Amino acid sequence: MHGKWWQEAVVYQLYPRSFMDSNGDGIGDLPGVLAQLDYLQWLGVTVIWLCPIFRSPNDDNGYDIADYRAIMDEFGTMADFDRLMAETRRRGMRIILDLVVNHTSDEHPWFIASRSRRDDPKRDWYIWRDGRNGGPPNNWESIFRGPAWQYDAGTDQYFLHLFTARQPDLNWENAEVRDAICDMVRWWMDKGVDGFRIDAITHMKKAPGLPDAPAGDGHGPVPAYDFHMNVDGVLDYVDTLAREAFSHGDIMTVGEANGIGADEAEPWVGASRGRLSMILQFEHWHLWSGDPRAGLDLCKLKRILSHWQNALEGVGWNALYLENHDLPRVLSRWGDPLQHRHASATALATMYFLMQGTPFIYQGQELGMANTVFHSLDDFDDVFARQRIVEMRANGMADDDILEEMALTARDNSRTPMPWNDGLNAGFTTGTPWLPLNPDYPQVNVAQQQTDPGSVLGYYRRMIALRASEPALVFGRYRLLLADDPQLYAYTRSLDDTTFLVVCNLSARAARYRHDGFNLEYAACMLANRPLLPHPPCNAFDLRPFEARVYRIGPAPA
Ligand code: NOJ
Repeated sequence: MHGKWWQEAVVYQLYPRSFMDSNGDGIGDLPGVLAQLDYLQWLGVTVIWLCPIFRSPNDDNGYDIADYRAIMDEFGTMADFDRLMAETRRRGMRIILDLVVNHTSDEHPWFIASRSRRDDPKRDWYIWRDGRNGGPPNNWESIFRGPAWQYDAGTDQYFLHLFTARQPDLNWENAEVRDAICDMVRWWMDKGVDGFRIDAITHMKKAPGLPDAPAGDGHGPVPAYDFHMNVDGVLDYVDTLAREAFSHGDIMTVGEANGIGADEAEPWVGASRGRLSMILQFEHWHLWSGDPRAGLDLCKLKRILSHWQNALEGVGWNALYLENHDLPRVLSRWGDPLQHRHASATALATMYFLMQGTPFIYQGQELGMANTVFHSLDDFDDVFARQRIVEMRANGMADDDILEEMALTARDNSRTPMPWNDGLNAGFTTGTPWLPLNPDYPQVNVAQQQTDPGSVLGYYRRMIALRASEPALVFGRYRLLLADDPQLYAYTRSLDDTTFLVVCNLSARAARYRHDGFNLEYAACMLANRPLLPHPPCNAFDLRPFEARVYRIGPAPA
């Protein structure tokens, strides 16, 4: 499992709309990304994942694509993209794109043709069915709430949309659809992009016959994941993509893989399968989504992440992440932004980043950004948030309670503009930002942290550099220690005669590390998020709240 460039990579997930605005329209753009490439190079990341940059009406901020071969107007031009790619390369970094091919926008010419007439040649490129008893063809609920079907009066049929009604699902059963997508993917590969993150990849196959999901009371749509997520046969489509497109270059492919457990991962990412480089699994954040007010259940988190580490050891490769544009900030979920911002941001970072796999950093995470502040329900921009608000109101929930719930869970939390400095609009734009800034930007911004090696940003930079210089931290075998300790996440990474010990106190209380397996007498502390308190050579030490340390045990480099 050695020898792929993407195994050594560190990925920076960039939300272009919120990264840097170059023309004062309040919306981030590609020239803005270009202007900040030096920052990313300084940080040490080697791959930039651009969330969708394609032409889109932005019902779901670019995850609704109207033209796969054009750049979104607000983001710039294809010439801007070409320049960005060349300049990224020149700095030794690479770009991967977000491939959204479970669905398109309803403004995509394919869909416009498909909906125009029942006998249009593209009719079957989407999933059309007759209604049933004056309602939708089945009882599936959309992942974004409400029925998964939209009625089209013009042709008197319904089309399927697993996300919003403006994101019709493509019909992957249709060979012309598969060909058109693979052709488009090869087109981007020919332009030189280094890979793709594939959106909603586990949803591309729907259960044959589109049967009803078992219904509660028979009224209204019901969640139907069993019928559209990881359905038998979905891997055939991944094979098509791999065979007809991905395998034509040395690229990195990352599937967004809701519904795949660690024991089911090998067929997706097993090195011998030739399908995907890695997948973004959902199990660890589902720990939190069940009850957003619950604290971190560390033992469960250790079980989940260790299961992934062990299941893929020697057979496949993990994608490591804590944050993305669909989640609130991890610091607000599992850290303590009020009392221990620096320590908890860096302890969480240390915990996930040094496992076996390719680490992903979501923009702003490297600054220790926390959730933003919402004053009213009108503050939510995200289409999913707005649909959830409608649903909660329909269920009789009071607006104050909805606001409290949404503030904890909304995706807008992680989509606020990048704080570059403490000046006007945090240096993000000279215009009006499309989404208000996180009000803590005067304290949490790049300029202030870049000059302070003791900052969260400085810590990320050191951690990235440490991983880059230590093959054991990239390829080494992972072993969990202290599985039942409710405060400490401790593990080792071993390769040949080098072992690293990673110990993170993920609680706001002091904790004692003790493990008889190692004597730390000859160990060197390679990274620590708090000044080290001297401790006698031994196999035990105390950690302050959210303290994290990384020791090298075994021979030091010559
Ligand atoms: C997953 C993406 O990450 C999310 O932002 C989007 O809303 C859905 N897929 C639909 O494309």
